[in-house]
Amino acid sequence: MKQSDIDKLLAWYAAGHRDLPWRRDREPYHVWLSEIMLQQTRVEAVRGYYARFLSALPRVEDFANAPEELCRKLWEGLGYYSRVRNAQKAAKLVAENSGRFPESFDELRKLPGVGDYTAGAIASICFELPTPAVDGNVLRVWARTEADGRAMNDPKIKKEIADALRPLYQKGSCGDTTQALMELGATVCLPTGAPKCERCPLRETCRAYAEGTIAEYPARKPKKERRIEEITVFLLRCGDLIALRKRPATGLLAGLWEYPNVPGMLTVEAALRQAEDWGAHPTAPETVAEATHIFTHVEWKMRAVTIHCRSTPGRFTWATPEEREQKYAVPTAFRKLLPNE
Ligand code: ADE
Ligand code: SF4
Repeated sequence: MKQSDIDKLLAWYAAGHRDLPWRRDREPYHVWLSEIMLQQTRVEAVRGYYARFLSALPRVEDFANAPEELCRKLWEGLGYYSRVRNAQKAAKLVAENSGRFPESFDELRKLPGVGDYTAGAIASICFELPTPAVDGNVLRVWARTEADGRAMNDPKIKKEIADALRPLYQKGSCGDTTQALMELGATVCLPTGAPKCERCPLRETCRAYAEGTIAEYPARKPKKERRIEEITVFLLRCGDLIALRKRPATGLLAGLWEYPNVPGMLTVEAALRQAEDWGAHPTAPETVAEATHIFTHVEWKMRAVTIHCRSTPGRFTWATPEEREQKYAVPTAFRKLLPNE
């Protein structure tokens, strides 16, 4: 993106944009509140909440001193309630500072609930600082105009694109640059289906448009699918001995030791039958516990059944707690089923 693109974008924004209530002034309390509300919620849903919140609590001091119950009530339906708790903490800090919001990105960033995006938005909109605010909208516009094929869901990418945009922010139009980038992403350079390129101010220089490759952007790193496996794990005890067996030499946790286990979630009765089949002469089962363990490609849902046994069939290796500690490598996935030993 070049300076001339930003100029075109600003002219387009000036010629008309959505009339959003938080764009009517640059009062930090207002802008901050709107950005917190917009963090995980759609613009249309936020409108009403924003107005209601500010008529109930018109100044940041009012928010700081409001009963928690009222704040929750005003937030009810917006979801993600940790936002309002953090926001009230931030409001208290600001109120202690004579009601003045910090006026730099770094100081704003220290307020509870304010991340890079929100700090960038407030600093540029309220204080005219060259601090890009990069959200999903901005990432998409960037990826397409630049035909930037990097994964836009990579956690590092927002910072990199903020760094690339920063030199394009110009004195006096920083707030509008932030808003215009957002506005283009939200109203023209739409995520799915058809972006409205025919009315885009960046069409002439947009690389994805020129190449006819819009659908390829923004690229994403695929989230690895994780398959879920259910297993029943047997904690077969005989005195202070517990049954272990060695895992196969290949595959997941190859060659390590494990408690005997079978696929599926067995009922206690079925587990007892299995222990009998192994020749362990089970007495009554003691406890059943559930745990999960997440590997890169698999998630185990484990049901652990502790069964006291009268014999120690040779198909297993029977180990004391000390031996399990010193001699047999039992991986964490299994270890956490016997946390106290
Ligand atoms: N999404 C996040 N911040 C926004 C803002 N200030 N205006 C419109 N949409 C937004
Ligand atoms: Fe997005 Fe189309 Fe504009 Fe390119 S020309 S920035 S793809 S709307």
